[in-house]
Amino acid sequence: MFNIEAYIRDIHDFPKKGIVYKDITPLLQDATATRETVAAFLSFLEGEKIDKVVGIESRGFFFATLLAQELNAGFVPIRKPGKLPYDTYRESYSLEYGEDTLEVHSDAIQKGEKILVHDDVLATGGTAAAACKLVEKMGGEIVQCSFLMDLSFLKGKEKLDSYKVVSLVSY
Ligand code: PRP
Ligand code: MG
Repeated sequence: MFNIEAYIRDIHDFPKKGIVYKDITPLLQDATATRETVAAFLSFLEGEKIDKVVGIESRGFFFATLLAQELNAGFVPIRKPGKLPYDTYRESYSLEYGEDTLEVHSDAIQKGEKILVHDDVLATGGTAAAACKLVEKMGGEIVQCSFLMDLSFLKGKEKLDSYKVVSLVSY
């Protein structure tokens, strides 16, 4: 596989002191690297039929839409609260301090549909686990959860242990 890490830039102390932010804009700026990244994700889905790709706001949207097109699947946005205009299902999850909520349109997934859940980063896993709960509440069958990168020291994979998890880079 091509060296995707070369296109991910560390930004120290963003958005807060002590945090190293993984910036994927150098990857997105490069058409070839973006195409290679899509191909890498597709290689983990050979022989799988996907009906919908679920992308998690906001950084999950970039590759989720590209993957949906390549897989001939629909794209479903999972969004932060108050952004989706139609009827929604909601799922709250805990953060280190406090709570957050994700929403999805109630008609976005039909029972039995095969789903790819996608986001850019798997950190503590709270976001992805909440997204998976929403998908299953609607009767979707999760084929795989894919991420550009996982921050393995935060053990997010443990929250997704009932799913197949793919990540292209581990830190
Ligand atoms: C980041 C990242 C993942 C999530 C991972 O999103 O893009 O979605 O955190 O964290 P977790 O595994 O600990 O739940 P963020 O909420 O910063 O928003 P953004 O994608 O809109 O930038
Ligand atoms: Mg995000």
